[in-house]
Amino acid sequence: MLAQDDIYPTSAPPGYEYVLRDEPAFDPAIHLQLEYPEKIWMLSDLGYDEHFISRFASPVAATSPARLLSDEGIAVLEDITRKLQPYIRYDSAGPRVPAALRGTTHRSRFIRDLCLSPDITAFFSDMFQTSLLPHTITHQQGHMNFQPRELSKEVDTWHHDATAFDWVLMVHDPNALQGGRFQIFEGTRQEGWELIRSGKSIPEDRIITPNFPGPGYACYMQGCTVFHRASRLEELGFRSSLVQSYVSRNVKVPDPNRIEWIEISEHGAQDRNYMLERQCAAAEWARHRSWVARHRLNELLAEMPFDATPEQVSQALRHVVGDLNDLIALLQHGPVSRQEAHRLRDALDLAQLA
Ligand SMILES: [Fe+2]
Repeated sequence: MLAQDDIYPTSAPPGYEYVLRDEPAFDPAIHLQLEYPEKIWMLSDLGYDEHFISRFASPVAATSPARLLSDEGIAVLEDITRKLQPYIRYDSAGPRVPAALRGTTHRSRFIRDLCLSPDITAFFSDMFQTSLLPHTITHQQGHMNFQPRELSKEVDTWHHDATAFDWVLMVHDPNALQGGRFQIFEGTRQEGWELIRSGKSIPEDRIITPNFPGPGYACYMQGCTVFHRASRLEELGFRSSLVQSYVSRNVKVPDPNRIEWIEISEHGAQDRNYMLERQCAAAEWARHRSWVARHRLNELLAEMPFDATPEQVSQALRHVVGDLNDLIALLQHGPVSRQEAHRLRDALDLAQLA
C-alpha cells in the first residue's frame, strides 16, 4: 500500500457535510474491479518530442477504457450520484462545463474512500510509471460532469486538464445515450489549441472515441498533456462522469497543476456551491504548493553536493520557492478576467517547457 503523505484534511471545509446518511461503506473487495486497459498511448504517440516528455512526470499519455468498478460498485455510485444532483453547479454561459459537481468527497464518504483508494493509486502509478497520490487539492478529487440543460452545449469543450493525472469514469451507461462521448485528440495540446483558436475544428480522422463497454469503465490519463472533450448530447438524459485527479511525487519536473484565480461572475456569486468552493481556493492552493515545496526541500537536503556552485544552489532554491512566490504574487494581485487567466496559464505552460 502506498503512503498517502498524511496531507488530507480530517474535517470538511465550512458549509460542507456528509449528506447521505445511508450510503454503504466503500469496500475495495466488493466495489472495485481493476482491469488493465487493452491500449496505452504514450506521449510520443500523440506527437510530443523528447524535450517535452522530459518535462513531465510520466511518458504515458492515456489508456483505453478499462473496468474500474464492479457491478456492485457502479450500482452504489450511480445511486449516490443521483442523490447528489441538487448540488450541481449550472453555468450555461461559461466556456467549459455547463453542469458540474465538486466537493463530492466532502459530501459522500463512499466517493471520498473510492477517490482515496490506495488500490487504485497503486494500479494507476504502476501503469504510468510514476508514484502518484490522490490530488492535494480536495476539490480536484471526485469532480463530476453532468448532462447540460440544453442539447446545444458540449458536455465539456476541448481542453487539457489543469491537473496532472486523472481517470474519467462513466457513471451512466454510454451505450444507452446518444452523444456525450468522451473523445481524445490524436495530437499535441499545442496543436489542438492552435486549431480551436484559429476557428478550425479538430479533424474527424484525428479524434479517438474510446469505446466504453458500459458504466464503471474508466480512461486513465496524464490529463495535462491530453487534449480531450465530452461531445454534445444528441438526446437529453442522465449522463455523469466521475473525474478523480492525482499528483506525482516526481517534483523534479515543473508542477503542471494550474490555478485560475478568476473574478467572480454575477452567476457565480449567486451559486452557493460555487461560493463554498471559492472560499477554500486560496488555502487549497497553499496546501498544494506547500506539499510540492516540502518534497523539493527534502530532495535538496538529500541530494545537494558540498561542491555545488553558487549558480547550482540558487537554481535549486528557486525550484523550491518559485511556485510559492508565484502564488503569493497571484493572491496579492487578486482575481483576473477569464481571458487574462488563460493567457497567464498559456504563458506558464510555455515557460515550463523552456
Ligand atoms: Fe478534462
